[in-house]
Amino acid sequence: MVILKIENVTYSYKDGGYQRVILNDLSYEFQEGKFYTIIGESGSGKTTFLSLIAGLEKVKSGKIYFKDKSLDQIGYSNYRRNDIALVFQHYNLINYLSAIQNISLAMSKTKKKIKKQKYVGYALLKKFGIGKSKSDRSVTKLSGGEQQRVAIARALASNVELILADEPTGNLDKSTEIEIISIFKNLALEYNKTIIVVTHSSDVSDQSDIILRLVDGKLVEMK
Ligand SMILES: Nc1ncnc2c1ncn2[C@@H]1O[C@H](COP(=O)(O)OP(=O)(O)OP(=O)(O)O)[C@@H](O)[C@H]1O
Ligand SMILES: [Mg+2]
Repeated sequence: MVILKIENVTYSYKDGGYQRVILNDLSYEFQEGKFYTIIGESGSGKTTFLSLIAGLEKVKSGKIYFKDKSLDQIGYSNYRRNDIALVFQHYNLINYLSAIQNISLAMSKTKKKIKKQKYVGYALLKKFGIGKSKSDRSVTKLSGGEQQRVAIARALASNVELILADEPTGNLDKSTEIEIISIFKNLALEYNKTIIVVTHSSDVSDQSDIILRLVDGKLVEMK
């Protein structure tokens, strides 16, 4: 089943006097339950693409559908709140909350009620190497790598079907990267989640079901 459909999307930025086209009449259908990676050169438009499918930016031409409804029909804030979880380079945690509060908040926003939220939250954080005392600390007092792990744990906690991540393992060491990738794989395989990860790491893309390369404003299937 198609979970996300991109239809003839074009996106450009104003660059000095002229419009520079980043995404050029791009169409693609993402299938439910698959783990996708998006690769491509720096500046090719990967983050721009993710911002659009995350409903953080509006398309200028073309349409994006989540399960047969366009993002306009769903409403952008509804879509961001109910349907997706984001792990972005610069769009991560709520700074004045602790790690466990960030996780609990994500759980409380889901439609499905999760029992024993804190218990589950601490257990999830522990899986990512964030122990009890770090979980209770304001996230600004965690390292960059630790904050990223909390962000991924929060995405998992939110219990949505679509998880979008921009370089989620960018500042983690290799062994943590491998662990996180296996969690993504497992989420797709066992829980039918759709995972879309932008990455520069071939170790990450090699593990995905489908590798897409963003080139000349279009997505090309490599695997
Ligand atoms: N808000 C903006 N205004 C103008 N130009 C922008 C804006 N955001 C991005 N760009 C430009 O659009 C192009 C694509 O940027 P984008 O961040 O999507 O690339 P990327 O593929 O994610 O690169 P990287 O791998 O380095 O993260 C770049 O040339 C960038 O400078
Ligand atoms: Mg980027």
